[in-house]
Amino acid sequence: MAENRPFVDERLQHIAFIMDGNGRWAQKRGLKRQEGHREGSEAFKRVVSYCADLGFKAVTVYAFSTENWKRPKEEVSSLMKLLERYLTSSRDELMKHGVRFRVIGDKSVLSPGLIKKIDNMEKATADNPLLLNFALNYGGRDELVRAFKKLVDSGKTDITEQDISLALDTFDCKDPDLVVRTGGDLRISNFLIWQAAYSELYFTDVLWPDITNEHIDAAIHDFYSRQRRYGGVES
Ligand code: IPE
Ligand code: IPE
Ligand code: MG
Repeated sequence: MAENRPFVDERLQHIAFIMDGNGRWAQKRGLKRQEGHREGSEAFKRVVSYCADLGFKAVTVYAFSTENWKRPKEEVSSLMKLLERYLTSSRDELMKHGVRFRVIGDKSVLSPGLIKKIDNMEKATADNPLLLNFALNYGGRDELVRAFKKLVDSGKTDITEQDISLALDTFDCKDPDLVVRTGGDLRISNFLIWQAAYSELYFTDVLWPDITNEHIDAAIHDFYSRQRRYGGVES
């Protein structure tokens, strides 16, 4: 397999994933949706370690949206528990792969215990080279509203695109080159709506818990077959 492993270069530094399809994965097996999320969290760990091996500089994953609070209480609390478990058990693995864990999204409404665990993990991994943006209670519109509020509070009036980018949760990170959505739906669902303005989009029917290294390789090969014109003409 190694010889088919794609080469990640400066054109592809940041990959983002909309990790969709956990619920359907479980339903297909007659299991509770929660079981799908549990399997999905295993897939997430595999994907992060593969992306570290491939040499990405940044990986962003959509874990829980500002809209996902609409789900049944039981499902929401199982997702938060899974995250707590991940934060308690994955420090060694993140250090081993050189991953810097960082939450993007509005943390303020999370439980104090969870916020503390997130802060601890962010501090423990702060010096690692591969940035993992974990989008939690994240919505692109909410992020923009928070950014605009920051700019208003700072008293700035002559606002540029760069000012907005720097006021976002991803202020220190290049925009995603490639956004991959699993689960077969062809939409963005409020993910990185500012940052993905010129990202390449890749959609696959594979349900998130079923994602393998080969699926990621396919997305990367597809990325390299495209020409990014940014509004210009073919060179
Ligand atoms: C994605 O899987 C995980 C979250 C949104 C938390 P879903 O739970 O949305 O799975 P489907 O789309 O219902 O299959
Ligand atoms: C997007 O998936 C959010 C995450 C993957 C966390 P959803 O399942 O919430 O998106 P919709 O509802 O199908 O648009
Ligand atoms: Mg979904």
